[in-house]
Amino acid sequence: MDAQRLDSWKDEMTREVMKAESLTELQTVRHQWLGRKGKITNAMKGLSSLSIEDRRTVGQQLNGIREYALDLFAQREQEMELQEETRQLQEEVYDMTLPGLWPDVGLLHPITRTRRLIEDVFLRMGFSLEYGPEVEDEWYNFEALNIPADHPARDMQDSFFIDLPGMVLRTHTSPVQIRAMKKYDGALPVRILAPGRAFRRDDDATHVPMFFQVEALVIDRGISLADLKGTLNIMAHELLGDGIKTRFRPSYFPFTEPSMEMDVTCASCRGAGCRVCKETGWVEILGSGMVHPQVLKNGGYDPLTVSGFAFGLGIERLTMRIFGIDDLRLLYQNDMEFLSQFQPYTGRPGL
Ligand code: PHE
Repeated sequence: MDAQRLDSWKDEMTREVMKAESLTELQTVRHQWLGRKGKITNAMKGLSSLSIEDRRTVGQQLNGIREYALDLFAQREQEMELQEETRQLQEEVYDMTLPGLWPDVGLLHPITRTRRLIEDVFLRMGFSLEYGPEVEDEWYNFEALNIPADHPARDMQDSFFIDLPGMVLRTHTSPVQIRAMKKYDGALPVRILAPGRAFRRDDDATHVPMFFQVEALVIDRGISLADLKGTLNIMAHELLGDGIKTRFRPSYFPFTEPSMEMDVTCASCRGAGCRVCKETGWVEILGSGMVHPQVLKNGGYDPLTVSGFAFGLGIERLTMRIFGIDDLRLLYQNDMEFLSQFQPYTGRPGL
């Protein structure tokens, strides 16, 4: 390691640096000199084998070379970065008039949006949300709701039974009525809304085997049919607009007495009569009634001191109504082209 040879290092290094054509190439050269196994580093390690005197002079010289190297690389690096920036500015021309790239924003499914709309209306009226299992105990789905095994009403709800004995895919959300009563354990008022899936063995233009319902149950002292009608009318106006008219028809459900169905004016003909409403001017949207005394008992409530109302509505039908969709099956084909036309609509809360 003689002083003269070391002297030539500066020139050698400078030549290599100037030859490097990119930042990566520059890094490689830097590594060859200053890296852990680089020339300068190795030379410094070798100092210990020199005599004390040589160590001093060579050491000083090496330090000088190292300083020089650090400066040289830093300076060249800066220069190259600046050159690259200038090149980009000159060569990469942006056309500011090109349209931007829009990120794909996800949309909630119209059924989900309708469910949230309904929830919003009832949460504002003091209801709370309850959920029950989709694979349900037959007792909750039928017996507790006053539908014994041999009752013809079971035929209305062609059920999916499964391999577990005594279990069924719930045919409606009404079993949550019983579960809620058991949970509230006699406390008043019970004021719940239970959205969820239900399953029945039919599949045609107006029915799918899996569909959504929203169940409501209110129990307190002195609840009457007027409370039920008032609540349903508020809901209809909130969801379908002030112009909507409602109509109640007597009906039958084993778990309510009396029972009634609610119709709303047909959206297609606004009540004049058309194919959609079979010329009646009305479309049915839900089943309801005063909770049957036996059902109150099954849930642990005393029908002599409290009363209640319940209703269950199909979300799909309401969705079709709100979004102007005329075929139920469109909701389940997951055709993004179709679904993406329902842009977020902020005119209503929850949508
Ligand atoms: N569970 C009934 C159905 O699915 C609807 C309903 C709910 C009727 C609550 C009355 C009270 O058809």
